[in-house]
Amino acid sequence: MSCNQEQTFIAVKPDGVQRGLVGDIIKRFEQKGFRLVAMKMQQASKEHLEKHYEDLKGRPFFNGLVEYMHSGPVVAMVWEGLNVVKTGRVMLGETNPADSKPGTIRGDFCIQVGRNIIHGSDSVESAKKEIALWFKPEELTNYKSCARAWVYED
Ligand code: RTP
Ligand code: MG
Repeated sequence: MSCNQEQTFIAVKPDGVQRGLVGDIIKRFEQKGFRLVAMKMQQASKEHLEKHYEDLKGRPFFNGLVEYMHSGPVVAMVWEGLNVVKTGRVMLGETNPADSKPGTIRGDFCIQVGRNIIHGSDSVESAKKEIALWFKPEELTNYKSCARAWVYED
């Protein structure tokens, strides 16, 4: 697999959807040059969300986090590109919006950690797990971006 084909799982959380921020978030990933591979809107079950955040089970905010994520539809996406996992996290900003710099998604669009509008995979390994949890293999599209040669040197 080419290093330009790294993939990450990004989800606009229910507050981001309700606040009409889906378009702004997609725009940032598109204008960066990353390629949209899959996208769907879904109100996830609590069981699904408990699995998604299983590493945080036992943390005091876990139940509230699952409630929050279950409170409305999310927009789940797979984005692809060179170092997209790491760069995606930089684009998101810090977990707590109060620590997120202006210019980042959380820095520009939200205030509190429990309403931080967007999820992004924190490693290539967790991206693989999350993509497999949210998407069937056949839901991942395979097309050649016409911008590819203008985004990458090789
Ligand atoms: P995410 O997984 O949603 O992209 O967020 P993250 O990696 O930046 O942070 P993580 O530690 O994975 O936490 C997941 C989500 O749990 C909520 N949270 N609340 N009240 C709290 O102290 C607290 N800490 C985390 C946030 O919604 C965070 O994004
Ligand atoms: Mg996380």
